[in-house]
Amino acid sequence: MTEAARRPLIIGSGIAGLYVALRCHELGLRPTIVTKARLEESNTRYAQGGIAAAIGPDDSPRQHLEDTVKAGDELVDRAAARVLTSEAPARIADLVRYGVPFDTIEGRIALGREAAHSRFRTLHAGGDATGLSIEEALKHRVVDAGIEARERTVLRALGPGSRDGPVAVLSDADGKAVEFLTAGPVVLATGGAGSLYRQSSNPSIATGEGVAIAFRAGALLTDMEFVQFHPTAFYREGAPRFLITEALRGEGAVLRNDAGDRFMSTVHRDADLAPRDIVARAIDRQIVTSGHPCVYLDATALPRDLLFARFPSICHFLASYGLDPSRDQIPVVPVAHYMIGGVTTDLEGRSAIPGLYAAGEVASTGVHGANRLAGNSLLEGLVFGERVARQVLHPGPGGPKPPARIEEVPLSATGGRGEEAADLEEVRSTLWDEVGIVRSAEGLASAVDRFERLARGTAATRAEALPGPIANAALTALLIARAALVRTESRGAHFRRDWPQRRAIWRIHVGLRAKASAARGRPANR
Ligand code: SIN
Repeated sequence: MTEAARRPLIIGSGIAGLYVALRCHELGLRPTIVTKARLEESNTRYAQGGIAAAIGPDDSPRQHLEDTVKAGDELVDRAAARVLTSEAPARIADLVRYGVPFDTIEGRIALGREAAHSRFRTLHAGGDATGLSIEEALKHRVVDAGIEARERTVLRALGPGSRDGPVAVLSDADGKAVEFLTAGPVVLATGGAGSLYRQSSNPSIATGEGVAIAFRAGALLTDMEFVQFHPTAFYREGAPRFLITEALRGEGAVLRNDAGDRFMSTVHRDADLAPRDIVARAIDRQIVTSGHPCVYLDATALPRDLLFARFPSICHFLASYGLDPSRDQIPVVPVAHYMIGGVTTDLEGRSAIPGLYAAGEVASTGVHGANRLAGNSLLEGLVFGERVARQVLHPGPGGPKPPARIEEVPLSATGGRGEEAADLEEVRSTLWDEVGIVRSAEGLASAVDRFERLARGTAATRAEALPGPIANAALTALLIARAALVRTESRGAHFRRDWPQRRAIWRIHVGLRAKASAARGRPANR
């Protein structure tokens, strides 16, 4: 093994990035974490409900697998989901070993329930502060282990490298101090793109640049049309769209429209605990037909003690708006929450580029199909993170199988070099309005045009001519819209007004690949 191969570069510091770094370190490698903000700032930090694993006495990985497959609307890769669900208990044991303080009842880990799970299998910590508890515990382990972490450092591009991996181009957060790193293993753990939508539960750092950079470098992407919308984020004009966890409905809270009527029981057998895509669309329909800007989550039948013990962050947040969930109904709306697609990987986290791995939300392993089950996202980062760490230690030949349909996207249409001429707000509004909960050919085509124009508008003016944040945002948005335009059906999180039914011919994945021999934006190898 070369020295470069022993020094994986891990981009991102959410659950996947921190966990891969810790495991690489334990396996005798010398990882470096690169993160664009502070080490502890990530989407993971804001996860509330928890992490799913079949550890309850009445549960089994097999049952977890079946629930995952069912929620994924015929598109789950069963082999990947089997890996996810069968390795989950071992990865939870790792988190316990790393000091994550999961909530317990009488000495046993407490388990909550979330939508479309047939069992109580959601582990939580600090009540509804699961992500924060995990992020803090892993961060402390990383610091204690002396793992190098470069904060406020940004991945700008990936270039052709060696068998060990691509060349990584980094800069500081202001786009200056550009440096080229020797080719070695690169693990993308850059998370999702939720904040590219105007209404989102994600922090502003979730901008999807990992996808854009990998795509320009020649990686294959899959399932980009599947963006999951969370049904319940806090609604008040001017207030942040704070997540109101699904676990509240798991405890018995119910949705009501502005007339005070429960509406989910007329929509789905599982009523308020129907799969997330169904609940999000039902709420959207209520809002559109009533003209009222939100619906309400009613937790007033739950004991006050339980609400404040189990959901302290939510209660604290609501208090700052003068609301008490044991007394007041919570105004909620659906928001963009999770990027199901991403960089296509195999079961070892290998992308189509030698030495480039992906883990967590940026990766598309196929485990979520068309609709992710709650609690499976944090889990995915761990399970496939472990496999990535082992693969980095013992790299073997392989890579993802190409999906049945691949769309080639000309890189000339995506521009993506240099200075920021475009407006991030235009990206966010267009995604929300045209590539949101309900889509149509007309809206998607106009979004594609607009994103192409925005991406092209980012003309090269910087000396180093590297794509910047807006170019990456426009490209990621374009890729979501392109894939959504291609899929002429409705399935899982992807709903087309003009194709409202599921179609058997679309029981396949859609891949996206850059069409260009000399990919623009690719830095020269050094
Ligand atoms: C939630 O707490 O409702 C979100 C959990 C998830 O997205 O997995």
